[in-house]
Amino acid sequence: MDAIAAKFGHSFTYDEALIGHVAIEATGSPLPDESLEKMLHSDAVLFGAVGHPKYDNDPSARVRPEQGLLKMRKELGLYANLRPIKLFDELLGASSIKPEILKGADILFFRELTGDIYFGEKGRKNNGDTAYDVAEYSRYEVERIARKAFDAARTRRKKVCSVDKANVIETSRLWREVVQKVAKEYPDVEVEHQFVDATAMLLIKDPRRFDVVVTANLFGDILTDEASQIAGSMGMLASASIGDGTGVYEPIHGSAHDITGKGVANPLASILSAALLLDISFGMKAESEAVIAAVDGVLKAGFRTRDIADATTPTAKVLGTEAMGAEVLKLI
Ligand code: IPM
Ligand code: MN
Repeated sequence: MDAIAAKFGHSFTYDEALIGHVAIEATGSPLPDESLEKMLHSDAVLFGAVGHPKYDNDPSARVRPEQGLLKMRKELGLYANLRPIKLFDELLGASSIKPEILKGADILFFRELTGDIYFGEKGRKNNGDTAYDVAEYSRYEVERIARKAFDAARTRRKKVCSVDKANVIETSRLWREVVQKVAKEYPDVEVEHQFVDATAMLLIKDPRRFDVVVTANLFGDILTDEASQIAGSMGMLASASIGDGTGVYEPIHGSAHDITGKGVANPLASILSAALLLDISFGMKAESEAVIAAVDGVLKAGFRTRDIADATTPTAKVLGTEAMGAEVLKLI
């Protein structure tokens, strides 16, 4: 951000706030009020990642880092999560999918982010022997995310694939009904409806058939992890969570505690998240493109972090986190 400010004559001011495990350790809460206030008073939030193995292996933990993330999404009204899946040409060999299937794949996911089974009533009954999670969607929630997806499709290849499980699930039937209705307002955009199981298959079989994909919270969570393999690595994927106020920009990967302190994490997903922030929250298109071009440039120069180094690029220079970031800075 500072390199962009220097190059384009801007000045950005930063505030820092705790969330997740570190916030629990410091205050007892995964999202302290102070952090939320700071976010609400900022123009945009650049987010790290939450999660800690300590809680993953303890299903009885009542306070969990992820609660901070979910509360932030709800409180900031971040109902649309944009996850662009774009393969940099240089990384064709880094994916486990065959290059001829992958080349040119470019998908924009719209994952609904503040509804569904994530936020419905949950609990236990029968003395704790039965658990339930309610999935719920209201018409307006589907409508607003569908419009965002159709609007985006107009700026791209004009195709929307809406993903649901309308053959079984009632919220999916409402979802499909609403998307069909919204689609009528966009006669220039081609729409198709797919079931989530078939979509999981088609993403790997023929990723290029997709342009914009719009889906519910849980399906979107799962499908975008799968789709990350189209881009070679989770370490490449940025996301934007937007609503009507402050936007939040974060890599789609988690906190990767298995590599804590090793200096091998791929910083590009975070850097590309800053590029989305510049574009979407600040309307700085040229600045955003400068960041993406710099990332493209370091890949073209053969620099790789461990997760995207592959056997088909024998000349690749494998760098750690800091060094990779430094190469991006040089090109900005
Ligand atoms: C994501 C993450 C979160 C989610 C977790 C950490 C709660 O997997 O942003 O995709 O499930 O939404
Ligand atoms: Mn996820």
